[in-house]
Amino acid sequence: MPATVIVGTQWGDEGKGKVTDVLADEADMVVRFQGGNNAGHTIVIGEERFALTLIPSGVLNPGVMPIIANGCVVDPRVLLEEMATLQSRGVDTSLVRLSANAHLIMPYHREIDALQERFLGKGQIGTTKRGIGPAYTDKFARHGIRVQDLFDPKIFRDKLEVVLKEKNKLLTKIYNQLAMDATAIADEYLGYAEQLAPHVADTSLLIYEALGQDKQVLFEGAQATLLDVDHGTYPFVTSSNPTAGGATIGSGIGPTSIDRVVGVAKAYISRVGSGPFPTELMDDVGEKMVQIGGEYGTVTGRRRRCGWLDTVALRYATRINGLTDIALTKLDVLSEFDRLKVCVAYETDEGRFDEFPRQQRVLYESRPVYEELPGWAEDISGARSLEDLPPKARDYIAYVEKAAGVPVTMVSVGPQRAATLNL
Ligand code: GDP
Ligand code: IMO
Ligand code: MG
Repeated sequence: MPATVIVGTQWGDEGKGKVTDVLADEADMVVRFQGGNNAGHTIVIGEERFALTLIPSGVLNPGVMPIIANGCVVDPRVLLEEMATLQSRGVDTSLVRLSANAHLIMPYHREIDALQERFLGKGQIGTTKRGIGPAYTDKFARHGIRVQDLFDPKIFRDKLEVVLKEKNKLLTKIYNQLAMDATAIADEYLGYAEQLAPHVADTSLLIYEALGQDKQVLFEGAQATLLDVDHGTYPFVTSSNPTAGGATIGSGIGPTSIDRVVGVAKAYISRVGSGPFPTELMDDVGEKMVQIGGEYGTVTGRRRRCGWLDTVALRYATRINGLTDIALTKLDVLSEFDRLKVCVAYETDEGRFDEFPRQQRVLYESRPVYEELPGWAEDISGARSLEDLPPKARDYIAYVEKAAGVPVTMVSVGPQRAATLNL
């Protein structure tokens, strides 16, 4: 700290929410810089389980200011519902701040997301259907409507009318759907303005001032490195930059402010939706990972595909994000496996790839080259320090450090806050 970025090193669901919640104990601010309610971050505090989609995980630490920055896409109904649910569970959401520059997810974005997926048929991405891709498409096409527009009803209605003309052509002529009504959408969205007003701010300025006062600011990534639109397994990615560089653009701070980048790595890998996944296990071992790891999506409930840790991808994540250290999560899940495999390279008929391949075809065609490590075959969920771990679990951590090229500074052995080892 003061400015620490937390990013996923795989295809999401590494446990970023838990790691953020633990680190937020010493933070003043937690910032989401990209994505929207496609994210699902589960945090367990005592007997209580919180599933957050849009609000940064820092909200569960009293006094921490949760910020939804300019790089996010925001479905205002979802945000208000999430705040209301948290309030009803005794969580104070009054400090939540929302960038005036964040883009709104509109009803046609959700509809078009679902329709595009249907039209892709077998080639579908497996999106969360929350309207994320179409909202970012409009942002870059400069057809987006922003949070600040909610406070200028005339501008909001004018922009909506223009955009909807085009969207309705798309909906009716291409997709054979009913047209949407601009007045109904405007009435609904402008109706959110009053409730959102106390939360809307110049979040870039808030973060800048906090950093200037040496406050501790955490940037909580959603999605992950391999879902990054530039650096991930395109087109099976999300439509934003979840890698560390995204934190600067997505929140309006300069890169020189960031001094730590924590990569969250699950001790094995999971993926939801379509796309290549070299170490995916389609057998009993994969099924066991799903069951023991509870690998079902927080947002869509979909079963996550599972496989062994891939250190080629992990090294790639170290490079792309400039990781300074790693938080290794769900190590407890591996206790149930006698022998562990770790992918160290990809092999194809064209040869061996030690680095993440430039040509994505390789990811589909390759066979992972595995090294085998012995399991430790004992419950480690009660471990609270490195000394509590069996030697073979410590060896696994050391192996990950060596493969990634950066130290592991945190190990998670259970969903709860306390089930964390700070190394
Ligand atoms: P995120 O999207 O990266 O925040 O991860 P998710 O919350 O979607 O998925 C991680 C899941 O694993 C959640 O259900 C967490 O409660 C759980 N979890 C996090 N860390 C650990 C851990 O160390 N061990 C176990 N068994 N579960 C964990
Ligand atoms: P967290 O933050 C795992 C995946 C979707 C789909 C692709 C594009 O919980 O790690 P989108 O709706 O973003 O256009 O879908 O990205 N995806 C995630 N997978 N965890 C997530 O978030 C994800 N957010 C999106 O399954 O394959
Ligand atoms: Mg998740």
